[in-house]
Amino acid sequence: MHTQVNGISIAYSDEGTGLPIVFLHAFPLNRTMWATQEKALSSQFRIITIDLRGHGESDAPLWRYTLDQSADDVSTLLDHLGIQRALFVGLSMGGYILFAFYRKYAARVKGLVLADTRAQADTAEGRDGRFLMAQTAYKKGPSAIADLMIPKLLSPQTIETRPDLVQQVRAMIENNQISGIAGDLMAMAERPDSVPLLSQITCPTQIIVGELDQATPPSDAKLMADQIPNASLAVVPRAAHLANLEQSEVFNQIVAAFASDLSKRKQS
Ligand code: MLT
Repeated sequence: MHTQVNGISIAYSDEGTGLPIVFLHAFPLNRTMWATQEKALSSQFRIITIDLRGHGESDAPLWRYTLDQSADDVSTLLDHLGIQRALFVGLSMGGYILFAFYRKYAARVKGLVLADTRAQADTAEGRDGRFLMAQTAYKKGPSAIADLMIPKLLSPQTIETRPDLVQQVRAMIENNQISGIAGDLMAMAERPDSVPLLSQITCPTQIIVGELDQATPPSDAKLMADQIPNASLAVVPRAAHLANLEQSEVFNQIVAAFASDLSKRKQS
């Protein structure tokens, strides 16, 4: 489904009924990375997956991107869907957007799942890397970005033994327009440090991290779990950065248990 949001067309899926769970994808992927979560969880919950601006079937305008703007897109889409409050799941860049969303729309957040993400801003070296990656996207196209990203997203064992999953991730990355890739890189490079926000997050929060995640390692997850007052941490064995794809059953169980618990709090 598509709708006009803040001047562009945003694509999303809306499956099931019950507590709304809104899933925000990683860079440079799209909402199909949540297909197994949608399938497993939509019998119990209302699952909303969104192609963030610049990705999948959403528009990728050639202009400045910010994570605040993506947060605004999500909020406007929820207005369109008649959803006031939800549980939000963000993986990596999706998590960065959730920090922006929480700053602006905390009242809409019933709970947070922060997966394979981090609260710190980029280092100077990290920002230089974003600039170089944007130049690579511009000169060589999305398949060169897939070559760079796949070893950061998936574990060596997954790359060696699960060609279908590797191909699925590659296809998502290659489906991007350059404007979306470069726009995200600029937005992520400019994001603020969210560490000072952590102690102000009052909603129930589930942190998830793949034990092999090198992009946003378990130490980053522990920092969030230590500083968010009402948080717990789950480390997923044999998963790297895309824990939801590499160990989907474990990931789904963690989200389902957390969402069920939140639903009960609503009734009590
Ligand atoms: C992601 O998976 O969204 C990216 O690895 C995040 C980042 O590059 O910081």
